[in-house]
Amino acid sequence: MSISPRGNWSSRFGFVLAAAGSAIGLGNIWRFPYTAGENGGGAWVLLYLAFVFVIGFPVLLAELAIGRATQQSPVSAIKQLVPGTWWPIVGGIGVMAGFGILSFYSVIAGITVGYVGLSLVGKFNATIDGDSSAAIFTGLTSNGVLMISLSLLFLLLTALVVRKGISGGIERAARVLMPVFFLFLVLLVVRAMTLGTAAEGLAFLFAPDFSSLTVGGAVSALGQALFSLSLGMGAMITYGSYLSKDDAIPISAGSVAIFDTSIALLGGLIVFPTLFYAGAEATAGPGLVFIVMASIFGSLPFGSVVSVLFYLLLAIAALTSTISLLEVIVSYFVDDRRWPRERAVWFVTALCFVLAVPSALSLGAFGGLTNFYERGGFLDFANEIFGTYFLTVGAMSLCIFVGWKWGIKPALASIEAGGHRLPAAGVWSFLVRFVCPLAVLVLLVYGAIFGANW
Ligand code: PHE
Repeated sequence: MSISPRGNWSSRFGFVLAAAGSAIGLGNIWRFPYTAGENGGGAWVLLYLAFVFVIGFPVLLAELAIGRATQQSPVSAIKQLVPGTWWPIVGGIGVMAGFGILSFYSVIAGITVGYVGLSLVGKFNATIDGDSSAAIFTGLTSNGVLMISLSLLFLLLTALVVRKGISGGIERAARVLMPVFFLFLVLLVVRAMTLGTAAEGLAFLFAPDFSSLTVGGAVSALGQALFSLSLGMGAMITYGSYLSKDDAIPISAGSVAIFDTSIALLGGLIVFPTLFYAGAEATAGPGLVFIVMASIFGSLPFGSVVSVLFYLLLAIAALTSTISLLEVIVSYFVDDRRWPRERAVWFVTALCFVLAVPSALSLGAFGGLTNFYERGGFLDFANEIFGTYFLTVGAMSLCIFVGWKWGIKPALASIEAGGHRLPAAGVWSFLVRFVCPLAVLVLLVYGAIFGANW
């Protein structure tokens, strides 16, 4: 491995763990189940899977190609490839998306920590029902000071890892956290699949009913595919920039995509059988894994252990993702503005904290933020704008950049460096140049003109 002052992953496995850690997060176990639930299950899941393979995976390769070719984070990377143009703005949009996503993500991550605490003190016991579970949730989320403190705690944890740099901080954290995550995941899937409602859960996830699909649902499926793989905002450009010249991108990218997608499906296999076991609905929205799941643990055999494991699982998954979100913004200040890492980390963390406050107060603490727009509060708004629209537009712009400006040839050379051939490179080129930009454009324009329904 080459040693550069910017830092490098210490091995390919370390990179795969860190990139999978970025990809696997609240997106898989919080956002995926509730969005699938809101959109009727099977058909939406199928569309999400199609977007992962047709758009997500090609964009993942494109981002890693930019990162490795330049050894720079998004803004300086694009500056280096096409100096003197407007294209670096695409990287700038990514940095802004990073701020936006981290600001609401750290709030949900904070709630998971709160729920670990509540599980440990036995709040989710046999006496709990839907109403008391909702009351516990609102009790926590309408407490402004507590919400702000939990979000700050999570941001500080993230900062402590990111300040240690690439191999000594991010990779090291992933090496400890990811195995724990996998262990908990397996235990939880086994518990859920032995409840007797596994078949119903599987049917909800995999039996498609296309009548429940809307344009809004299609946009959210695309957004979810990108969000879940950490794409469209430069996180994978940044992580790719710490790869050395001979690492095998095709294999690593394939492993990350397969890991991430399987874990979203496994997240569904934990949540849906458990819901159906209690006769609960899947349409609760963002509160699904908090209110509905928490109301069920009390009646599950070994429920108190299961609840601690479940919320710890969410918190761990969230941490390896907030690390990557913070790293994108920090590396902008380090690479482009030449700041020392330490200063960048604390400055960005402080700014993210300020931006997180409105989201933290939008789940009941402050009326104006709680009823922010027609579909929910400020956090839901930030989730939709940054987590779906910034990423879809970002991914489209990156594909146009790679396919039409920088060029397929140099991008492919970067992907295949070290002699690792990309199978079906022609298909990849076609997807990046035509399918991804057009699909995003058509969906967004159609949705804007005709509204959320077909
Ligand atoms: N992929 C992460 C998740 O699924 C979220 C994320 C999005 C992280 C974009 C980094 C960049 O939870």
